[in-house]
Amino acid sequence: MHGGKKRVGVLISGRGSNMASLIEAAQAPDYPAEIALVVSNRPGAGGLARAEAAGIRTATVDHKLFPDRASFDEAVGQAFVQAGVDLICLAGFMRILSDGFVEQWTGRMLNIHPSLLPLFKGLRPHRQALDAGVCIHGCSVHFVVPELDSGPIVAQAAVPVLPGDTEDGLAARVLAEEHRLYPLGLELVAGGQARLEGGRTVLASGSRTALGLA
Ligand code: GAR
Repeated sequence: MHGGKKRVGVLISGRGSNMASLIEAAQAPDYPAEIALVVSNRPGAGGLARAEAAGIRTATVDHKLFPDRASFDEAVGQAFVQAGVDLICLAGFMRILSDGFVEQWTGRMLNIHPSLLPLFKGLRPHRQALDAGVCIHGCSVHFVVPELDSGPIVAQAAVPVLPGDTEDGLAARVLAEEHRLYPLGLELVAGGQARLEGGRTVLASGSRTALGLA
């Protein structure tokens, strides 16, 4: 890539292990994206220290200091625009973004959700998977659309559900795959092999979009 790397802003709320996997992947010289800024809505989120240790710029935009969702989203957007961000990755970001913000970043914002979408949207997807009795579970990278966890899928990874699995055990097995999948999903979008068109993900032929069964 000759100066063609996409600048990525990462939004976190917590420990930031997915963010760390993106930072690590982006260190490869031929990776099509660089992490320009990490923003947390929670002061002191573990991921902030992790990003700083990797030499990445960070900012905190504390949602509690804003009167409403729109003004918080506006501040987040400004931070990313000022940092020259091309793409946003939500990485364990646990707040709903306003439709206006999502529409502004349509086709340029990704999320990772720990289930094989469209199954088990929303909270506690591992609990939902165990309760449903599925034998295969996993994670999905998708474009963000206004409806929660509903955007077009870019890539998925699958893991088995094993007898006696607990919510935590299953979450850990899925998380290991998330750390492989999110860098792949971002690579596809930043490198132009996956794009959002007419409400669907369009993939370059031959793109690798599935990982598993681990
Ligand atoms: C990850 O499992 C991520 O997929 C999930 O939260 C965890 C964050 O961990 N995200 C969601 O549930 C979003 N709806 P991390 O902070 O270590 O990346």
